[in-house]
Amino acid sequence: MQELIKKVLECQTLKDLEELRVFVLGKKGILTQEFAKLKDLDNEKKKEVAASLNEQKESFNKALNLKIKQLEDIELEAKMQKDAMSFHYFDENVKTGALHPIMATMDKIIEYFVSLNFSVESGPLIEDDFHNFEALNLPITHPARDMQDTFYFDDKRLLRTQTSPVQIRTMLSQKPPIRMIAPGAVFRRDFDITHTPMFHQVEGLVVEEGQRVNFANLKSVLEEFLHYMFGDVKIRFRPSFFPFTEPSAEIDISCVFCKQNGCRVCKHTGWLEVLGCGVVDPNVYDFVSYKNVSGYAFGLGIERFAMLLHQIPDLRSLFEGDLRLLEQFR
Ligand code: DAH
Repeated sequence: MQELIKKVLECQTLKDLEELRVFVLGKKGILTQEFAKLKDLDNEKKKEVAASLNEQKESFNKALNLKIKQLEDIELEAKMQKDAMSFHYFDENVKTGALHPIMATMDKIIEYFVSLNFSVESGPLIEDDFHNFEALNLPITHPARDMQDTFYFDDKRLLRTQTSPVQIRTMLSQKPPIRMIAPGAVFRRDFDITHTPMFHQVEGLVVEEGQRVNFANLKSVLEEFLHYMFGDVKIRFRPSFFPFTEPSAEIDISCVFCKQNGCRVCKHTGWLEVLGCGVVDPNVYDFVSYKNVSGYAFGLGIERFAMLLHQIPDLRSLFEGDLRLLEQFR
């Protein structure tokens, strides 16, 4: 038995151990055979031999179980080591993703207006003529439609050229007061250093009952917003034209690239155009059956904001997926 126990302790694998168990305690195992011989012994002898065999069986089993536990522990340890190595591998080589600068800029804008209690609305990318043009006071014959080169599917359906149709959809589905922004993709047939056929805008609309909302409200909200985005810049309002606002304005900020010393980006004017806005034209309210209300609207291009915030010279580089550019925005 001493021999057998020594063999148990020498086993290197669970398989060897099982073979040894069968050799000793299996159906034809050597100890099993000894037990079988008991029946041929007389009673006195039988008692004596049985006690000794049971003792041997017990110490063999004890050694066996001890060894099983030991080998299982070793196996587990080896498995854990192996897994730990693969974790190590991931640690060094896998980089986490980061927000694209356009999305980061969009989030920053959304965060600002949400903090002022604006709701975030959305509309379809495939729009119809009514929401994208007509209800925004741009009838079929209106020359202002030439301002935007549109992707049409057919006479009625088109890829929205602006987020302004979300103004119409929101006013049609909600009652005033309205205080909303609508971020999202828009599409135009345009491609050069400052234009891509798909880009992003944020629309804003505030409408209240009565005549409480005016240009002064618009001015203070947007000035605050631009200081939040660009810090200590100068801001100027320039009279402009949009069919759905009257009066309309464009807002410029002092050039963030050259600090008004003159550069290519501001075309040596010292000013950068960043926003369109105005008091909502009463004609628009007719299309959504609003009566005795007042409000203002604004719209901005997110790519342009991202370029100015991060001083990116070519708009197209934002869409090329070049990691050398994107990694700077971790
Ligand atoms: N939709 C205009 C555009 O794409 C931007 C704009 C200008 C939106 C003035 C407005 C606004 O809501 O009031 O050029």
